[in-house]
Amino acid sequence: MLIDGQPHRTIWVAEDGRTVRTFDQTRLPHEIAIAELRSCEDAALAIERMLVRGAPLIGATAAYGICLALLEDASDQALDRAHARLLRTRPTAVNLRWALDEMRAHLRGRLPAERVAAAYERARRICDDDIAICRAIGEHGLALIRQIAARKPSGQPVNLLTHCNAGWLATIDWGTATAPIYRAQQAGIAVHVWVDETRPRNQGAALTAFELLHQGIPHTVIADNVGGHLMQHGMVDLCIVGTDRTTRSGDVCNKIGTYLKALAAHDNAVPFYVALPSPTIDWTIRDGLQEVPIEQRGGGEVSRVRGRAPGGELVEVQVTPDGTPVANWAFDVTPARLVTGLITERGVAVASEAGLTSLFPDLAA
Ligand code: MRU
Repeated sequence: MLIDGQPHRTIWVAEDGRTVRTFDQTRLPHEIAIAELRSCEDAALAIERMLVRGAPLIGATAAYGICLALLEDASDQALDRAHARLLRTRPTAVNLRWALDEMRAHLRGRLPAERVAAAYERARRICDDDIAICRAIGEHGLALIRQIAARKPSGQPVNLLTHCNAGWLATIDWGTATAPIYRAQQAGIAVHVWVDETRPRNQGAALTAFELLHQGIPHTVIADNVGGHLMQHGMVDLCIVGTDRTTRSGDVCNKIGTYLKALAAHDNAVPFYVALPSPTIDWTIRDGLQEVPIEQRGGGEVSRVRGRAPGGELVEVQVTPDGTPVANWAFDVTPARLVTGLITERGVAVASEAGLTSLFPDLAA
């Protein structure tokens, strides 16, 4: 998608054919800085420190982390070490495990001398496939937006609400929750997006707003507590959020606060959709509340807020009293019963095991 009118992907290989480049998302929206990853450890730290974030981009970065590890040592042991190191970076988004397992399965049967080229090729394919998946999610989501637009008085935009950043910055291109919005814009449908700020790290205020601004999509950033009020007053036509891990029974784990929006949507009969690429389905578990590992992060993200000072420099300021305890759960689980539908690359599924299995019989098995 666009930054200053120029199309970009979130991750790419430099001219030397080895170094991996990506945007340092901790600097956005105030600085567009490019990070260079030259080793497996660079890739692992980029994920841990959230230079890259968002389930599909975490998976893609880990895939390139394997490539970078193999440049130094292409043995079986090095492959296993890199897999283990990268898997430890963040616990919740299942795309990480998926991408690492894909890479290892692809490389294991090959001679070490062939592995580097094969690894870069497989990582590139993971990225290209992600773009195709997001585009297809965009098509299926566009159909939903079109139906709502047809019921609105003429001239009134479709009002969507989204949480966190499930946009192109969280994927390779297009995004998951944003792909239907970008396709609606291309189709000439008027849309407006309510963007939850998404404390504590403000992925909505910083990243989703950045994307929508550069894409020319009308939007308004709101504090996290506002969505329920808007829904009570008929100001939200539908919610679309992303997901970090969806169980085979359709329970959706996503950024903390998603569950509260789903409750408000349910109470106000606002459709609540989840944009779900198939690598984000965890077919090994059913019960989202009990079985999804929920990341807990440092309290500093809650007690301090980061932003740009009037002088232009990026600063952090403390909002809590010295010594006050804080807690920082990064994700929550929305039970399948609160989800209107799962927008996948193969169509919209009912959020249930039967719904997902009917669209993905090959993967469910
Ligand atoms: O902590 P983050 O920024 O990695 O969390 C990201 C989210 O929760 C996104 O909504 C999710 O990964 C979907 S990305 C298409």
